[in-house]
Amino acid sequence: MSKQKVLITGGAGFLGSHLCDRFIKEGFHVVAMDNLLTGDIANIEHLMGHPDFEFQHHDVSKYVHVSGDLKYILHFASPASPIDYLKMPIQTMKVGSLGTLNCLGLAKDKGARMLIASTSEVYGDPLVHPQKEDYWGNVNPVGPRGVYDEAKRFQEALTMAYHTFHGLETRIVRIFNTFGPRMRLDDGRVLPAFISQALRGEDLTAFGDGSQTRSFTYVDDLVEGIYRLLLSDYAQPVNIGNPQEITINEFAEEIIRLTGSSSKISYNPLPKDDPKQRKPDITLAKEVLNWEPKYTRAEGLEPTLEYFKKKVLG
Ligand SMILES: NC(=O)c1ccc[n+]([C@@H]2O[C@H](COP(=O)([O-])OP(=O)(O)OC[C@H]3O[C@@H](n4cnc5c(N)ncnc54)[C@H](O)[C@@H]3O)[C@@H](O)[C@H]2O)c1
Repeated sequence: MSKQKVLITGGAGFLGSHLCDRFIKEGFHVVAMDNLLTGDIANIEHLMGHPDFEFQHHDVSKYVHVSGDLKYILHFASPASPIDYLKMPIQTMKVGSLGTLNCLGLAKDKGARMLIASTSEVYGDPLVHPQKEDYWGNVNPVGPRGVYDEAKRFQEALTMAYHTFHGLETRIVRIFNTFGPRMRLDDGRVLPAFISQALRGEDLTAFGDGSQTRSFTYVDDLVEGIYRLLLSDYAQPVNIGNPQEITINEFAEEIIRLTGSSSKISYNPLPKDDPKQRKPDITLAKEVLNWEPKYTRAEGLEPTLEYFKKKVLG
């Protein structure tokens, strides 16, 4: 009997490549579709030649087709880090809107279940803390981050419309900051920036006074949450993230300690619309998915540091 097929858009990216690994492990035939805008073929090199893996170099904002039956679509294609989407605002809005529309059309045609990668950024600079799924957010549509936040909000609305109007089976995961091997060193996010600065013995550059908080989820926890959500019968958005909160200053000190670096912390002005606090309320994920993170930040940082050491120090 042939294996069930899953399409993973953004499959050569950080999260997409980990999802490819998981679905191969679960016995699926995986189609990874990616235009390599921010992804890297090196992330999926180990899967090339696997009989149940295929890579399609393709822009999902143009058209999406996969031959034969399709069980699931996971739409993860999108520039995801601020430096990427600020550099590529139109591609970001296109992949969130047209790319999502194309994937939803394919899902409808194939009778596939579709899961979209939404984000904690739909909450903007939140006025409610921690953020629960029923909080509607505080987003500036015309601010620099609006291209990403509003693309993701539109993506959620479009997906929900296909669900209610066409009866399509859809799932929406709101992902909070995730880290792990295969993150890009230069993606501008705080974690790879701090790690590479610490490994190079440079100052760790915090924004503002470093008192803003973040919470970091290890990638294996995220993948488990996504897998459970996909297989669940829950169509409303679900937060997946680690609620363990830390200030940027504390995080910088932790990275300096774990790398044994002699780096210091220096400060740059806070970027416009940078959220001051970010922490998921995961009550819903616990209730409907029986999911909660298993890895502490330190446990996740271990393999991540190993990965970055190879990248930075060779
Ligand atoms: N990493 C996180 O912490 C995080 C948090 C919230 C949401 N997300 C979402 O998860 C998804 C994956 O994020 P990531 O961190 O792996 O980013 P990433 O940049 O590593 O991966 C995104 C992938 O999408 C591909 N892509 C972009 N536009 C495309 C297009 N038009 N057609 C085909 N492929 C395209 C890129 O080449 C890349 O491989 C994104 O949708 C992002 O918004 C990520």
